[in-house]
Amino acid sequence: MDRYVVIGNPVAHSQSPFIHTAFAQQTGQSMEYGRRRCEFDEFARSLQGFADEGGRGCNVTMPFKFDAFRLAGSVTERAQVAGACNVLSRADGTWLGDNTDGAGLLRDIERNAEVDLDGRRILLIGAGGAACGVLGPLLAARPAALTVTNRTLSKAVDLLRQHRAAVAARAQGATVLRAAPLEDCGDAYDVVINASSSSVLGAAIPVDPRVLRPGALALDMMYGPPARGFLAWAAAHGAVGRDGLGMLVEQAAEAFELFRGVQPDTAPVLAALRVRMDQTPS
Ligand code: ATR
Repeated sequence: MDRYVVIGNPVAHSQSPFIHTAFAQQTGQSMEYGRRRCEFDEFARSLQGFADEGGRGCNVTMPFKFDAFRLAGSVTERAQVAGACNVLSRADGTWLGDNTDGAGLLRDIERNAEVDLDGRRILLIGAGGAACGVLGPLLAARPAALTVTNRTLSKAVDLLRQHRAAVAARAQGATVLRAAPLEDCGDAYDVVINASSSSVLGAAIPVDPRVLRPGALALDMMYGPPARGFLAWAAAHGAVGRDGLGMLVEQAAEAFELFRGVQPDTAPVLAALRVRMDQTPS
């Protein structure tokens, strides 16, 4: 049976086995999907070990997305722009690297939350591994303005620099792009996306509530108990909060299609996952 895993550290909490097993059942694919915990300095060895065991593909989670990019034999254009991979698929004796995080986020915002990003003002909080995967696809959605704000401003500036070439190459220069410090990142955004690890660390919300226009979509890429503080903050300031569960399922669906060549139906899997997560104590 074809074998797939999610590789990360930590990985015990990962919902990827649940999601991919549900997709496999739904589409009649014969495969098994497990977890592979890997020590911080052993990603290359663990990945090679999995390949030697006949592994067909993996989802890569924190903190190995940059390592996955470096170890891939070839990468898709969107992974190249991100400089990070969350998916590795075995092809011709090597790993093909992809990044489905941005496509997953976009599908969740535009299809599931029904918010069209074209012409909107977006604030992206964070400039680390989570932010780099989604900036390219967010730009491709042609927002009117996109501000990247980060505690360390220079990292936001670097992230934009990394993407400017991609933006120019695709002639999508219609977006006003800027980097800004957390304490002065503008106001009244239509969509605010928290891609910082502040939630998972239990830190304070890193921006002032004036960044939210009334009715704005405020999405935290985290889910479960870590996302609850951000969702409560959004609700208290007149925004519509959304956690990262939809993005998680949508990015997994893109990965599943790469693995198996079939597109799963995400809605029932997201619904089942919500029930499962609601049973998680805070
Ligand atoms: P990830 O893969 O989750 O993005 P990362 O690459 O370590 O992890 O990036 C973490 C991000 O969260 C960074 O943008 C970080 O800001 P710095 O670049 O200044 O380190 C941000 N972050 C972490 N803790 C934060 C906090 N308490 N407040 C605001 N931003 C925080």
